[in-house]
Amino acid sequence: MKLAIGSDHVGVELKPAIIDYLKELGHEVKDFGPYSTERTDYPKFGRKVAEEVAAGNFDSGILICGTGVGISISANKVKGIRAVVCSEPYSAKLSKEHNNTNILAFGSRVVGLELAKMIVKEWLDAEFEGGRHARRVQMISDIENDYHTENEGTSC
Ligand code: RB5
Repeated sequence: MKLAIGSDHVGVELKPAIIDYLKELGHEVKDFGPYSTERTDYPKFGRKVAEEVAAGNFDSGILICGTGVGISISANKVKGIRAVVCSEPYSAKLSKEHNNTNILAFGSRVVGLELAKMIVKEWLDAEFEGGRHARRVQMISDIENDYHTENEGTSC
């Protein structure tokens, strides 16, 4: 898979090991930053990765901040994005099977490397089941369509 990854200054230290792991699994990975621990703002990177995924430039995205919360909320503001923040593998797997999530987020202050790798693997290996879940995911998109105006989401 072609994966986009991003973080904030808190998540940046865990990110290289996750990138290595993704490459080990055979995925292509592009890191959208940041590239240092200098203080920055998670919405910038959540937005960038989400826009890349929503535009179809990447199959899926991975985001890391301190808790995974702020960066996933930011990503979820981009139309077409279903980002999940997970601190255990069960929800990661089910979020793909039932909710067709296209971005996985986690917190570098919440999970250690080995747990993060397990979460990532379960999420990447899982497949959307469709069927009744597709109808519900469509209902999520309907909410989004009702609240986004036509030109929203374009770069400015
Ligand atoms: C940064 O201090 C912290 O707020 C951020 O990494 C993240 O946890 C936000 O949700």
